[in-house]
Amino acid sequence: MSRRTKGRVTRPTGVELYNRLEKEVHDRLVSFLDGKGPILEIGCGDCRHADRLARSLKTRVVGIDISKEKFPVGRGRHCAECIQTDAESVSVVLNEKFAGAVARFVVHELKHPKLVLREVFKVLKGRALVVLADPVKGSTAEQLHNEKYYTVGQMTGFLRWAGFQDVECELLGEGNLAFVLGRKR
Ligand SMILES: C[S@@+](CC[C@H](N)C(=O)[O-])C[C@H]1O[C@@H](n2cnc3c(N)ncnc32)[C@H](O)[C@@H]1O
Repeated sequence: MSRRTKGRVTRPTGVELYNRLEKEVHDRLVSFLDGKGPILEIGCGDCRHADRLARSLKTRVVGIDISKEKFPVGRGRHCAECIQTDAESVSVVLNEKFAGAVARFVVHELKHPKLVLREVFKVLKGRALVVLADPVKGSTAEQLHNEKYYTVGQMTGFLRWAGFQDVECELLGEGNLAFVLGRKR
């Protein structure tokens, strides 16, 4: 991920690294979730990523967030449905079953990540895939945003605790971001 400036090889800044990672994460999500639907996005924020996923996957995407502060106003050109709810009670609020779930840059913000993932497990169909994409402990993002992140061991542990199997993790962006997958059997 180094770049060459006037003959010198420099490392990307944190912001450059995460801008590049956004595209890499999106492309990977699309390749893993292609052909699956509907998809649940946990902690969808302003819903822009949920919309982008809906367009790329050509499927229904439901985004949930504990706060609707950043939700788009009016339907406009938005394709994803965004619902304000605490992910800790998603199985009570939604009575739809999903073929995949995504939490992008969210796990570190959850008060009870294990409980959220257990709830997500309940609203997934059999064979569904869950994907967590989050900066890892000690990553560049820790200094950039002054936040605390989990280790890969903790994130894979949360998924196993919640009931997911075939849990695996790939490190992206020079080891800064964990892309963790699990499957509901
Ligand atoms: C860093 S933002 C990421 C937003 C979006 N996923 C993205 O990649 O642009 C984390 C989001 O998680 C949401 N969040 C935190 N705890 C939550 C919970 N218990 N249930 C639902 N959303 C939650 C926050 O409100 C925030 O919008």
